[in-house]
Amino acid sequence: MSDSQSKRGAWNSKLGFVLAASGSAIGLGNIVFFTSNAYQYGGGAFYLPYFIALFTLGIPVMILELGLGTMTGRSFPNALRRVAGRRAELLGWWAVASQFIITAYYIVIISWALAMMVGSLGSLFQPGATAPFEPFQEPTAGPSAVTFFFGLVSTWWPLLALGTVWLINAYALRGGTRTIEAMVRVFVPLMWLFMIGLIVRGLTLDGGLDGVLYLFTPAPEGIASAEVWRGAFAQMFFSLSLGLGVLTTYASYLPKKSDQVANALTISFLNCGFEFIAGVAIFSLLFVFALNPAGTTLSLSFFVVPQGIAAFPWGVRFFGFLFFLLVTTAGLTSSVSLIEGMVSAVIDKFGVTRSRALALVAVPCAILSSAFVMPHIVDPAMNGNGTLGLTLLDLVDHWVFSYALITVGLVETLILAWVLGADQVRTAINAHSKIPLGGWYEYLIRFGAPALLGVILVWSLAGEFTGPFLYGDDTTPASINWLVVFIPVACLAGTVVVATVLTLARGKVEKAGTGGMKTGAAIGVLALLAAGSAFLPGKAQAQEVPGIPGTLRVGEAVELTIPEGSTLIVTYRPNSSIARSDSLAIGPDGAVTWTPEQAGVVALAVDAGPVRNVSVRFAGVPWLGVLVLLGAGSILFGGAAFGLRRMLKGDDHAFLLDT
Ligand code: PHE
Repeated sequence: MSDSQSKRGAWNSKLGFVLAASGSAIGLGNIVFFTSNAYQYGGGAFYLPYFIALFTLGIPVMILELGLGTMTGRSFPNALRRVAGRRAELLGWWAVASQFIITAYYIVIISWALAMMVGSLGSLFQPGATAPFEPFQEPTAGPSAVTFFFGLVSTWWPLLALGTVWLINAYALRGGTRTIEAMVRVFVPLMWLFMIGLIVRGLTLDGGLDGVLYLFTPAPEGIASAEVWRGAFAQMFFSLSLGLGVLTTYASYLPKKSDQVANALTISFLNCGFEFIAGVAIFSLLFVFALNPAGTTLSLSFFVVPQGIAAFPWGVRFFGFLFFLLVTTAGLTSSVSLIEGMVSAVIDKFGVTRSRALALVAVPCAILSSAFVMPHIVDPAMNGNGTLGLTLLDLVDHWVFSYALITVGLVETLILAWVLGADQVRTAINAHSKIPLGGWYEYLIRFGAPALLGVILVWSLAGEFTGPFLYGDDTTPASINWLVVFIPVACLAGTVVVATVLTLARGKVEKAGTGGMKTGAAIGVLALLAAGSAFLPGKAQAQEVPGIPGTLRVGEAVELTIPEGSTLIVTYRPNSSIARSDSLAIGPDGAVTWTPEQAGVVALAVDAGPVRNVSVRFAGVPWLGVLVLLGAGSILFGGAAFGLRRMLKGDDHAFLLDT
């Protein structure tokens, strides 16, 4: 091992790397975001695009990001600079600046999970629980986890949780690869264990399989929708930790001879396998208790799952605690990788010590993240939904998912395939790979992947104009209206400025060259204009759903014929700034009755409206769902086992000498 490499850090074993990289990939994205996206985009409709995304973009781009790390032995910005010069470095720093924003809100969600975890020992699962969140406190009035959560976020308690989460991260990062490896060796296996515990509980509940089949039964109308494809591709990118260069940093601590094809396959399949069982565990609760998830990103994991757990015949607190412990540990192994990406970039460029780099990154980021947990209610009329933190979170989340990751993915693929050269990349990767990449890979990264990513970006932009304003709603309250425009513009302008400054800054390790900045600046300005235009107010549009009106007003009812043996799921967005879906009152006269398995005619009516984007789905043909369930499961876990076997073959002693 060369001296400079050991100074930067190096993984102790292959297993250490697999645990760290899969720990990065498996995170909130697999539990919180995946389930809410899969639900929002129609369960079975989501799976096909998701699988296609895995093979056409996920694995190929991961090979690129990992390969870049071992080729250069540097973290993302310096790695890009080494292969393609200074213009490329700008992209690297832009990715680091985006990581900063993502980390800030990612850690906030972990903190909320931690607070809910403590709350499950206290009042969260007592009937009528409500915050203030305090373990073992007497509950007051209020029906559910929703009340508890909104009670929680309107207190200062999350700030304490946030501080704790930051400290854990700093502790895990203090010694670089050495301490990260120590952490993931404990956390990653535990995470799998907790998840298996939950899945067994969910599936042994009566009716647990119905929800799971909803997730796996293909829905043709959904598959035809561009929105679903966009959602699946963005989800795949986020979930695999792509589009930020985090995996490049982790791979830079590997010996040069590492097999990045086997690595990419292993990490991807482990990640998607975990996502698969998380989906099964959570969707099994959904139907057992006839729960209807609200449409915000957090609501499925933070409201619906606890509600389902509360209805368990036994072990409510235990499983509640376990679930939030799972979310917390999964989140931590990812947040550590996000912060390491930034810390390592600073060390590589400026040659400062690890502790200084950590402080430079973590202190401002912690300050930014505390903005999300301020118990400030923007719009009291909206109760909990008007909390500033949640609004900020929704806006930042939209920016990240729709633009940041995909843009980095697109430009990095273009740089590697066209500036460095697709043939060069393939040769470098094949030199150490037991499964050689064919010529198709060059076409894929030259044309296929950029085209797909480009189309997704254009779709996202177009969606801002044609879709309803702010996630399906045109009635954002005036008090937060300016935020809707301000936040994305601030994210974009801030990241571009920070990236430019850091690129121009004179580094200690490698001196800054000249040239290329004009092009860099031009790309920056173009990106600014393009993304800025996306946030011009779009026009509101209720989505028409065959057979029923897109918008239902108070007192209106629709009749529906439910086929024999099918399950009825209704979603809509109510009149608030944050998209929600809920059970509509169902029954011949608008009474609240849930008749999931009954054939015949029912009426839908709303008691508070108007509601938009009403959609009704019937889950049918269970055997098809079973088939997809089994097929998807065996592909993912078979792939993971195959990759692991290839990857872990050979002893770790050789691995260490392999540089
Ligand atoms: N993949 C992580 C998750 O699923 C999130 C993440 C994205 C982490 C990008 C690092 C880089 O939660």
